[in-house]
Amino acid sequence: MKLEGCGVLIAGGGSGLGLESAKLLRSRGAQVGVLDLEKGDWDGPYAQADVADEDAVGRAFDALSAETGTIRVLLNTTGIGHSGLSAGPDRKVTAAGFRRTLEVNTLGSFILAQAMAERLIGSQPDEHAERGVIVNTSSIVAFEGQIGTAAYAAAKGGINAMTLPLAREFARYGIRVVAIAPGIFETPMFSKARGPMVDWLRDQVIFPNRPGDAVEFAEMVAHICRNRMLNGTVIRLDGAYRVPPGQHDWWVD
Ligand SMILES: NC(=O)c1ccc[n+]([C@@H]2O[C@H](COP(=O)([O-])OP(=O)(O)OC[C@H]3O[C@@H](n4cnc5c(N)ncnc54)[C@H](O)[C@@H]3O)[C@@H](O)[C@H]2O)c1
Repeated sequence: MKLEGCGVLIAGGGSGLGLESAKLLRSRGAQVGVLDLEKGDWDGPYAQADVADEDAVGRAFDALSAETGTIRVLLNTTGIGHSGLSAGPDRKVTAAGFRRTLEVNTLGSFILAQAMAERLIGSQPDEHAERGVIVNTSSIVAFEGQIGTAAYAAAKGGINAMTLPLAREFARYGIRVVAIAPGIFETPMFSKARGPMVDWLRDQVIFPNRPGDAVEFAEMVAHICRNRMLNGTVIRLDGAYRVPPGQHDWWVD
């Protein structure tokens, strides 16, 4: 998928990994629109929507594509966590919190992917029979969840698990589906982390021995857009970091 002139929708592009990706893809010639609860520091086409709200997502797609042209790249970097112990005297995780975590992270990814595919089916493919690319964001916590991350890990695991079946189905329309599983990246979400484990955790990134920079995530997104052989897979982007068991209180809800 060529980025020059290409319509791109970034859900979650008001902050962090999504915002940096929006800036980078725009600098490569893409027509970028952002869907988010908040516009944040994004200074381009914007539509407010909750990704768990199917009707709001549909309206945002249509409003943004009027400004960007046909949306052929969907990047979803929205995400929320709900952390804490699941049982015992310090129990913090609730069924309502677990449900909302699934709704935003997992169902939201599906709603966006469905909205994108429905709108691309009747469009003209490029010279490689490609119509579009969907890039979701999970987490390496889906593979190695710390104590206290059952809800977040389950929600991100759902994103990983839907990657291949959606890629297999959407292949008939020339739409690829890929997920990125980041390790630790310096963003507003990560800067909320607190507690004695945090500095130690940062030091666990093997090489380079530091958290990732959002630009490194954005470069991966740009590469996925360009490289047509990337499909139906989950890419770890983590500097060989493997999440230790940890303790329950190093994320703030
Ligand atoms: N930063 C990290 O270290 C890290 C590590 C692993 C995975 N991730 C994942 O990467 C993605 C981006 O993380 P980030 O660090 O940039 O976070 P961030 O908090 O900076 O950005 C997330 C954006 O999503 C938006 N958002 C949240 N819920 C929404 C909803 N219901 N509808 C619409 N927009 C919503 C927020 O307003 C925000 O702009 C998330 O999915 C996160 O789980 C981040």
